[in-house]
Amino acid sequence: MPELRAANFGADDGTIMGNVRTGLSVSLDGFIAGPNDGPEAPMGVGGEKLLAWYSAGDTEYRLPGSDMVFMVSAQTAEYLAETRRTTGALVFGRRTFDLTHGWGGKHPLDVPVFVVTRSVPQDWVYEGSPFTFVSDGLESALDQAKAVAGDKYVGVGAAGIVQQCIKAGLLDEIHVDLVHVLLGDGVSLFDHLGTGPIDLQSTRVIDGTGVTHLTFRVIK
Ligand SMILES: NC(=O)c1ccc[n+]([C@@H]2O[C@H](COP(=O)([O-])OP(=O)(O)OC[C@H]3O[C@@H](n4cnc5c(N)ncnc54)[C@H](OP(=O)(O)O)[C@@H]3O)[C@@H](O)[C@H]2O)c1
Repeated sequence: MPELRAANFGADDGTIMGNVRTGLSVSLDGFIAGPNDGPEAPMGVGGEKLLAWYSAGDTEYRLPGSDMVFMVSAQTAEYLAETRRTTGALVFGRRTFDLTHGWGGKHPLDVPVFVVTRSVPQDWVYEGSPFTFVSDGLESALDQAKAVAGDKYVGVGAAGIVQQCIKAGLLDEIHVDLVHVLLGDGVSLFDHLGTGPIDLQSTRVIDGTGVTHLTFRVIK
């Protein structure tokens, strides 16, 4: 059984209407990618270690609506299923979109993705596209994402977007898949906050294989 601590959910199915949360794999020293990320190494040098937990367990998790199969611990499988069930839309920055080539055409969670950018890539704009490019600011992207997410969460990433959300008081939950590694360098999740301390309330800890899923409420 996952270790659950003081769950702080608003509804029976674990969702809180319109809440904004992160959902990123992060090293113990706070990096979501290694240094020198780019087309050849989207997760940077050594960054693939942040994803190793997806194949470190003995329980199969098939991501619905995709051909992705993960081997994780039983508690992580349960957690991944819950994440998919409770995520209604995503807001991502343009770098992640470009580095993943638009997740190959559709995000694995199979929900609408709002990509914050200063320039719209016209070849990705077509009828029925799962991607909406938002060039009038992060807040606009969040509003649009909340409108389609309904009573589910809006997930946000990556580092630059999360930092802006925190600074603007727009982030409700910090969820991280804490990977048991020190990367030493790379893309830091919590750089450039430029604010005083931000208090967090730990709401859940799930121990997996090679990963610990941590959830905090941001105290506002
Ligand atoms: N560990 C994980 O779970 C995970 C998950 C996803 C990504 N990643 C990693 O995260 C890294 C990318 O994150 P990142 O923080 O560098 O970039 P990012 O947040 O993905 O994208 C930043 C870009 O978004 C656009 N943008 C951001 N805020 C904007 C605003 N307010 N208005 C208009 N445009 C805005 C800008 O692009 P333009 O200037 O081009 O418009 C900016 O350069 C990669 O290394 C990736 O591999 C890790």
